[in-house]
Amino acid sequence: MSSPEQTVQVDLASRSYDISIGHGHLGTIGSLTRSWLQLADEQPLKCLIITDTNVMQPHATAAKQSLDAVGAETRVIAVNAGEGAKSLQEASDLYDQLVDFRADRKTIVMAVGGGVVGDLAGFVAATYARGLRFIQAPTTLLAMVDSSVGGKTGVNHPKGKNLIGAFHQPAGVLIDTATMETLPEREYRAGLAEVIKYGVILDVEFFDWLEQNIDGLNRRDPDVMRHVVARSCELKAWVVREDEYETKGLRAVLNYGHTYAHAFEALSGYGQLLHGEAVSIGMICGSRLAARLGRINSSDTERQAKLLTAVGLPVEVPSAMHDQHDAILNCMLLDKKTVAGDLKFVLPDRIGHVETIGGIDSDTVLACLAGD
Ligand code: NAD
Ligand code: GLY
Repeated sequence: MSSPEQTVQVDLASRSYDISIGHGHLGTIGSLTRSWLQLADEQPLKCLIITDTNVMQPHATAAKQSLDAVGAETRVIAVNAGEGAKSLQEASDLYDQLVDFRADRKTIVMAVGGGVVGDLAGFVAATYARGLRFIQAPTTLLAMVDSSVGGKTGVNHPKGKNLIGAFHQPAGVLIDTATMETLPEREYRAGLAEVIKYGVILDVEFFDWLEQNIDGLNRRDPDVMRHVVARSCELKAWVVREDEYETKGLRAVLNYGHTYAHAFEALSGYGQLLHGEAVSIGMICGSRLAARLGRINSSDTERQAKLLTAVGLPVEVPSAMHDQHDAILNCMLLDKKTVAGDLKFVLPDRIGHVETIGGIDSDTVLACLAGD
């Protein structure tokens, strides 16, 4: 069943684009692509669709059918599902596919999948022939509310996540929330951590609304999903417009909870704790840190923990990590916000507002692994 679509604009001068949000409108991606690229019906359209083995059926196939129906020449490549696909080797294989497909400067790359597919396909689009136009059709909640918007693309280096990458804005993003009907429960809930994060960092009214719609969130009610995705995209679009290349400090607010989370993810072994689960725990540690520094009331930490718990997310640091102080600090020192060994944290001073704070001693940072 489809319902009217809503459009959020990402306002970036010549790199501006639309995010089309709907429920059941993936089948319009062919005509939307022609419209976004300002291609008349008779003009050729060639598109390499990159997806993964879990998303191929039915979503990438539906996107291909829609493109075929508007006269496009298409090829679909499914990479293995999972973070392992975000590698230079996989990117190189995709360059080979583009050569074999006789791609030219007008060929489009389309990502149909989660953040892994989006980051990988975006990186290939950014680098092949010095840049091909790129369309995103995210199919996880995390990709819908975060990774498909804002132009960060990249692959992992064996020594670190996302170390190789480029900014490359898409020409359009189609978010069909119905594609989440096949998304595993745990992946869906992990995406909710990023949604709740937007409320804490930027929008107390959105946070209030999430608290009032827990049942709809847990049932994946389409109207609730629509608002969740649209409001999150509006907030992310605003941040990206103000600080596209993360040079002004604003875009860093999106990293609330992430300094702790990166350490938890790395120590649990990537894949054990999903990124959103680690962010959920990391937000609570960050909020505890803000409370210790006298920046926020502990009741605001409890409010966040209550909402995160209500949507099935973990909020306590796994007990195996409680004593791994050196390892946690070492992981945190690799965080992108760390400058000359000074750990920086995005910390709330109330629900709806955060600041980046440095100069915090490591004992205080570690004391927040456990609640009082
Ligand atoms: P993912 O892409 O690995 O998807 C999670 C799992 O869900 C995979 O197994 C995938 O095959 C499956 N899946 C996806 N959509 C599905 C659907 N509709 N139905 C059934 N299964 C489906 O993970 P993710 O959480 O979407 O993204 C994580 C990646 O995003 C990380 O690599 C992270 O670095 C990146 N990321 C990038 C940005 C950015 O700004 N570029 C922001 C946040 C995260
Ligand atoms: N997910 C962080 C960013 O886009 O900047």
